[in-house]
This record gives sequence, structure tokens and C-alpha cells, in this order.
Amino acid sequence: MLEELHELQRQLHAELDAIRTAEELEQFRLRHLVRRGTLGRLRERFRQLPPEQKPELGRILNALEETVRKRYAELQQRLEELAEEQLSYDLFLPGRQSFLGGRHPIQQVLDDIVAIFSRLGFVVAEGPDIEDDEHNFTALNFPPEHPARDMQDTFFLTADRQILLRTHTSPVQIRLMRALPPPIRAIVPGRVYRNEEINPRSLAEFHQVEGLVVDRSTSFAELKAILVAFARQMYGAQTEYRFRPSFFPFTEPSAEMDIRCFLCRGAGCRVCKGGGWLEICGCGMVHPAVLRNGGIDPEEYIGFAFGMGIERIAMLRLGLDDIRLLYQNDLRLLRQFR
Ligand code: PHE
Repeated sequence: MLEELHELQRQLHAELDAIRTAEELEQFRLRHLVRRGTLGRLRERFRQLPPEQKPELGRILNALEETVRKRYAELQQRLEELAEEQLSYDLFLPGRQSFLGGRHPIQQVLDDIVAIFSRLGFVVAEGPDIEDDEHNFTALNFPPEHPARDMQDTFFLTADRQILLRTHTSPVQIRLMRALPPPIRAIVPGRVYRNEEINPRSLAEFHQVEGLVVDRSTSFAELKAILVAFARQMYGAQTEYRFRPSFFPFTEPSAEMDIRCFLCRGAGCRVCKGGGWLEICGCGMVHPAVLRNGGIDPEEYIGFAFGMGIERIAMLRLGLDDIRLLYQNDLRLLRQFR
């Protein structure tokens, strides 16, 4: 048994030397230190030894068990300390990133538009979201019962249809003309509302930027020059554009401006729906009746106006194919475009 004890001593210490984890230490305890483990069984055999062998072997057995239990306890403490240290200082973990808030994509586009037009000499004005029929339609030369009113499905707030949510930012043209003596050179960012089905391409609530210039002399050529300068700064110096004749009751002549689809460069794609062009704004020379409604003499002054949708521009910039993504406040989208 003496030989066996020496062998066991070597073996246990070798096992203890090899232990690296709490799990391995626990396995060691279950193998050797529990009542029916190696040491426990050894003690049972010890009890049956002839008495004359007991003193010497007893001393050895006690010493063995004592040193093994002591090393076990030390290892246990060391592993616990290590675990704690790792919890509080793992120098290899990547740092925690904190996320700063940022401007919403819609606001970024608005800010860019405002910055470009500020450089072109425009001031920023605003008007109310809740309008009356007078500013939203009548003063803008929409005749009563005229089908042009149906171009923009309206949310009416009163049964007599006199108070409504503005369907475009154009009513602010009237407010500006009535409030300021010309020359006027202003842009008007704002929210507009239309009673439309909500789907990937349209919302019932969106944003526009209106532009209005009224002066003693200006021209359609200047309107074009301003919009081309804008498009080049917004979409790139090489941007191709075209103006198409159009109709709005409050401008005459009227046009719509398209730019070359910057995704497919005209080849035709999902964004431009195959046409190769993207419509970016409506525009025209302010109708003389509208100047008159604004208290400005059309014999003395001339003006032009334009209006563009913001969501559309934000979608093109971000490559979104569903306008609703702009209003879900999904942090993944907001963090992607800051
Ligand atoms: N208000 C028009 C719209 O919402 C756009 C426009 C503005 C057209 C100014 C001409 C001049 O569609």
C-alpha cells in the first residue's frame, strides 16, 4: 500500500497541476474528494489494515489528503479571483460604442435644400399647416367646383369645407405676397397633407419646399437657371435635366422639371420605373390673377414659383423603395444615414 500511496500522490499532484478551469476543478473534486472518491475508498481500506501498519501509513495518508485538499482550496480561490477579474477588466473586449442622435434623413435633405437656396439669395419662410380654402385654393386661382381641386385630395376640418389641412405649400405664396412688399425671394419648407392611400409610393402626410420670386423683372429663363443651379448642387454637376410643359392653376406657363435618373443614368430601372427620368418639381410663372390676389400689381411685377417633394428626394438619395421606411423610426435606418 505504501507504493500505491506514493503513486497516488504523484498522480493527484499531476492532475492538480493540469487544472485550468473551475469545471476541471469540480471534476477533480468529484473523482477524488467526495466520500466515495479515491481518497474516501482508500480510507475504508485503511481501516481494515492490521494495526501495526496503521501508524506509518496513517501519517502518510493524512499528509497526502491534507496537501491535496489544501491545493484544491487554493486553486478554487485562484479560479474565482480570475473569474472576477475577467468580469471587471477584460482588456480585449471591444469598447462599447455609444450612439449619438442624428438628423433624420428628411431633415438632412431639407437642410441641404435650404443651404443651396440660401446661397442663391433666398430667405426661409413658413406658414400654417391648417389653412383655409381661400389660401389653399381660391386665391391660387382654383375656381370653385373646378376639377383642378380634385388634383389634390383634401382633408377638410370643417363640414363647410372652408378649413382644411394644406395640400401643398403654395398657400404660403399668398401669405408672403400679402405680408411683404416685393421684391420677394423666399423658400418655404413644410408639411403637407393629402387624403391618399398609404402605400410604398405615397403617404397622407409629407413635405414640400416651395419657392417664390416676385420682382420688377424676372423671367422663365431665370426660373430655369435657378432650378438648374439647384439640381447641379443637389445631384451633381453633370446632372442632365429637362423641362416638360404642365398645368397648375396658379402658374402660367407651367412646367415640370425632370432630372436623369442617377441610379441607371437613363437606361431605365426600378427607381425611374423604366423611364430614365425622375420628376423633381413643378414650376411656372406666377399667374397674374394670383399676383393680384396677393395684392401685387401684375402690370408692375412678375414672378415665378416652384414646389418640390422632399420624401422623394430622400428616397432617391438613400436608395429606399418604400416611402414608409422614412417614418418607422427604425434605428437601423436612422444610424445608417447620419
Ligand atoms: N403646389 C404644386 C404641387 O403641390 C407644385 C407647384 C408649386 C407647382 C409652385 C408650381 C409652382 O404639386
